[in-house]
Amino acid sequence: MPVITSKQFRWIEVENYGEMSRLAAAIFEQQLLSKPNSVLGLATGSSPIGFYEALVARFKHGNFSFQEAQSFNLDEYVGVAEANETSYHSYMERHLFSHIDLPVAKRHLPIGMTKNIHAECERYEQAIIQSGGIDLQLLGIGVNGHIGFNEPGTSFTSKTHVVELAEATREENAKYFLSKETVPTHAITMGIETIMNANQIVLLAFGDHKTEAIKRLRFEGISENFPASILKEHPHVTVLFGK
Ligand code: GLP
Repeated sequence: MPVITSKQFRWIEVENYGEMSRLAAAIFEQQLLSKPNSVLGLATGSSPIGFYEALVARFKHGNFSFQEAQSFNLDEYVGVAEANETSYHSYMERHLFSHIDLPVAKRHLPIGMTKNIHAECERYEQAIIQSGGIDLQLLGIGVNGHIGFNEPGTSFTSKTHVVELAEATREENAKYFLSKETVPTHAITMGIETIMNANQIVLLAFGDHKTEAIKRLRFEGISENFPASILKEHPHVTVLFGK
């Protein structure tokens, strides 16, 4: 008998940034309501800021809790101290962790200040596996199609690894630093396969500068030159986009 897989790939065009943020927060709330000990995959960047606000607002409303949940962030810069305000550790603290009841020990990000980067990548990948795997992963998308920090050309079978950031990515992220020169050159990121192993994925893309990337994601074929394209092979993806 043929194996029938049900595939759910939803494209949702939103009216505005607030709508995108609320819809994404509703998906995460639903996830925590149906499975309080969910493993959540989290992202940084400007796209999810409104989502975190909306999620915190829903949490404060009191319907659900993060007490039993765990989180794994996609990535972290190499060589940026956790306490530095440009680290993804700080970002998460600011936008989410300081507002919710997720226990400190259950918040996971790669350690970018480690002495042994390769051991850290392996440790992080294993920690995700040990957790039982990611139930719901949040993603943004870079203008060059990167997801996490998986730049064009990254193998679709990659696990958590260290990457050299593309020029386009360093330029895109320069706004968070004093100058482009001070943007770190390397990061630790979940691999493409790590991301694809999540049970469900929600991707956020908002603004004119993301239109081209969304068009390519929608209409081009699957290629390692455009990392996000592999998502079309995933069984359960929601893309929330607009401008
Ligand atoms: C960084 C992050 C990505 C994020 C991307 C887009 O490169 N590592 O995970 O998706 O930026 O960021 P923004 O949402 O700010 O456009």
